[in-house]
Formats: sequence, C-alpha cells, structure tokens
Amino acid sequence: MKLDFTYYNPTTIHFGKESLSNLKGELEQYGETVLLVYGKTAIKKNGIYDNVIATLNEAGKKVVELSGVMPNPTYSKMLEGCELVRKNDVSLILAVGGGSVIDCAKGISVSAYCDDDPFTKYWLQFQPVDNKTVPVASILTMVGTGSEMNGGSVITNEETKIKAGRVFPADIYPKFSILNPEYTYTVSRYQMVSGVFDTMSHLMEQYFTGDDCNTTDYLIEALLRSSIDNARAALKDPEDYEARSNIMWNATLALNTMTGLSKAQDWQVHMIEHQLGAYTDCAHGMGLAAVSLPYYRHIYPHGVDKFARFATEVWGIAAKGKSKEAIAKEGIDALEAFCKECGIVTSLKALGATEEMLPKIAESTFILEGGYKKLTTEEILKILKECF
Ligand code: NZQ
Ligand code: ZN
Repeated sequence: MKLDFTYYNPTTIHFGKESLSNLKGELEQYGETVLLVYGKTAIKKNGIYDNVIATLNEAGKKVVELSGVMPNPTYSKMLEGCELVRKNDVSLILAVGGGSVIDCAKGISVSAYCDDDPFTKYWLQFQPVDNKTVPVASILTMVGTGSEMNGGSVITNEETKIKAGRVFPADIYPKFSILNPEYTYTVSRYQMVSGVFDTMSHLMEQYFTGDDCNTTDYLIEALLRSSIDNARAALKDPEDYEARSNIMWNATLALNTMTGLSKAQDWQVHMIEHQLGAYTDCAHGMGLAAVSLPYYRHIYPHGVDKFARFATEVWGIAAKGKSKEAIAKEGIDALEAFCKECGIVTSLKALGATEEMLPKIAESTFILEGGYKKLTTEEILKILKECF
C-alpha cells in the first residue's frame, strides 16, 4: 500500500429483506418535515412508495414530494427540489430510487441554501461547501452507482450540455441507506445489466492504474468475479435472492471509496460517458461499456502487466506459452464476450448518438491523468468512432 490514505465512511447500511423496518427508528433523529425524492413510475408500481409513506406517517412526519427525477438528473429538476426545501424548512431529504434520485437529493442538499449559482460553484469549480446543508438518506431500488454510500453527485446541465460529477465530503454522504435486494426484482434486464457494468467499470477504473498490485487490487478482482458470476445467475432467474443481494453489495463496495484506497485511479471512461450521456441521455452503464472496449484496447500496451493479470485473475485465461500482450488482449476480448452474453449495448449509434455528436462529445470531455495514458481530444474522438 504505497500511497498513504485516510479512510472514513459515515453511512449506516441496513441490508436485507427486513431492512425497511429500520426506517422508523432512523427517522426519530430528524425534524418534522421530510422531502421524499423519487423517479417516475417504478416505486409506485412495485409498492415501495406505499410502504415508505406508511412508515413516514407512523413516524408522524410531514411529507413533501419531489417526483419525476429522471435518469441523468437535470439541473432544473434539482432546483425544483431546492425550492421545496426552502419553502418547507425540510429537515431530511429521503431519496427512494437509483443513482439518479440519490445524486439529485445530494445536489439539493448542498444547493438549497447556496447564494451563488450552485452548478458553477460546486460542479464546475469544485468549491468547498460553505453554506447550510440538509441531511440526505436513501432507500436503494436500482443498483450500480454506489451513490448510497458515497459523496458522488452527477448532475446534467441540460442548457449547456455538461454532465458533471462531484464528490462531496462526508457530511453529504447518505446518513443511512436501506438496501433490500428484493426491491430490485422489478428492475428490467436492460437496467440490471447496465448497473452491473457500472459496478465493473468503477472497479476497473480503480484497478487499471500504476504498477502496484496491493490488497485493493485483490479486493477488486474478487468483486469483479462476483459481479460476473452473479449477473449470470440473476439473468437466469431475476428473483434469485443470493444473486441479487451479491450484485447489490458489490455495487456498494465498488464505490464506497474502499476499492480506491492507495490507488492512483483512472476515471477517463466515466469522463467520456458523462459527455456521451449529456448528448444522448443513454443509460450510464451502457455508455460505459461502449467506451470501455475501444479505450482499453487503446491503452493496454501502456499497462500490459496489469491487463494480463486482469485476464488471468478475473477471466481465468490460461497464460502458459503466451506473450503478456496476447494474454492482455484475451482479457479484453473476454470482457467484450461477457457484454454480448448479457445483452449489454456497446454501439453508440444504438445508444442514440449521431456522427455529428462525436466531435462535440470529444471536445467537451474532461481529460484526466490517473490512468496508463493521458488521452488527447483526437484520441477520444478515435475511441468514440471505434464504438460508433
Ligand atoms: O424513474 P423510475 O420510474 O424510478 O425508473 C427508474 C429509471 O428509469 C428505474 N428503476 C429504479 N428502480 C427500479 C426501477 N425500475 C424498476 N424497478 C425498480 N425497483 O431505473 C431507471 C434508471 O434509474 P437511474 O437511477 O437513472 O439508474 P442508475 O442507478 O444507474 O443511476 C445513473 C445515474 O447515476 C450517475 C450516472 O451518471 C447517472 O446519472 N452516477 C452516479 C455516481 C455516484 N453518485 O457516485 C457514480 C456513477 O459512476 C454515475 O456516474
Ligand atoms: Zn459509474
């Protein structure tokens, strides 16, 4: 563990079939008014909404609602929530949904009492939070982002076409998150595999860096193997509790900052996907998968030892008699074959991109330095063309 680190994660996790029973007790710590933030139709169809409302009523809370939070949540939707917080003196923001809903809730928390333009201040200039904030908690219904146990908030400014992510400090992490794997049974196959790839991408963004192979890398390999095996099991039987619960916990562990410890970290695939999402509104995990394959084929010569290790340790590829390059390539081929097997979409056209969008996506992508190769805008455009 060559790089020093400080690790702290303040989120309480209630996990399992009966985890909602902890909600009433948790609510006792907060004041009268709760802002319930949720998506479009899912939680009303599958009964989660009714169960949560019943508990809020039992706990004697006044409930204000922000519904219709969309995938790739927009800045204007987030501002609607800010207005509700100010008007109603909200003391807890309870997000019930996937990453989009939880990210929107965190955005509302830091922005409701911000006197400047919050998007510029917090998502573009990464300034520290110096205004009053409102506690956030979550009930997770769609798995992949890890937002339930981290400070991440990704908001899309629909006017400027910038999808920007920001990691907020510990007091913006959810105070508690309720994770009931059964809540994910109604998630479509498309969204489920998109979430699995998102988890895998978080792990790979933290794995493909540096020349170290420390404990974090061993943890990542285990979580990748578990994600692959359990995705296969859940595709066979969407109500396989063991599989759904493993997928859920893998996603949380993949981005609760534990699997980034003592690592440089890449995140270039996420930067490209964010701009792809801003232009196409595609499902986050699908966009990541499309970009990952040509990106890894482009950079693996600069980190060939790690890519070869990925092939043998994650995909079980036999190494005997082969060059490191050949093994590394087989690992990326195995990742591609897994995407096909699961029905993960890896073509930008199929995700709604047009040829004219590609230069705009490339030019607006934030370029990072933590990976094996710092890309140029021209290289990003080449990668985008390869998965078009
Ligand atoms: O709108 P509803 O009707 O709720 O439907 C949602 C939505 O259409 C549906 N869904 C959720 N729970 C369901 C369900 N459908 C059936 N049954 C259920 N139980 O799923 C759809 C997608 O939901 P969404 O929240 O958009 O998905 P996800 O969790 O993948 O979140 C994606 C967003 O998170 C950001 C992404 O960029 C994207 O904006 N990310 C956040 C991160 C973080 N906070 O750390 C990191 C990630 O890398 C990522 O960037
Ligand atoms: Zn992601």
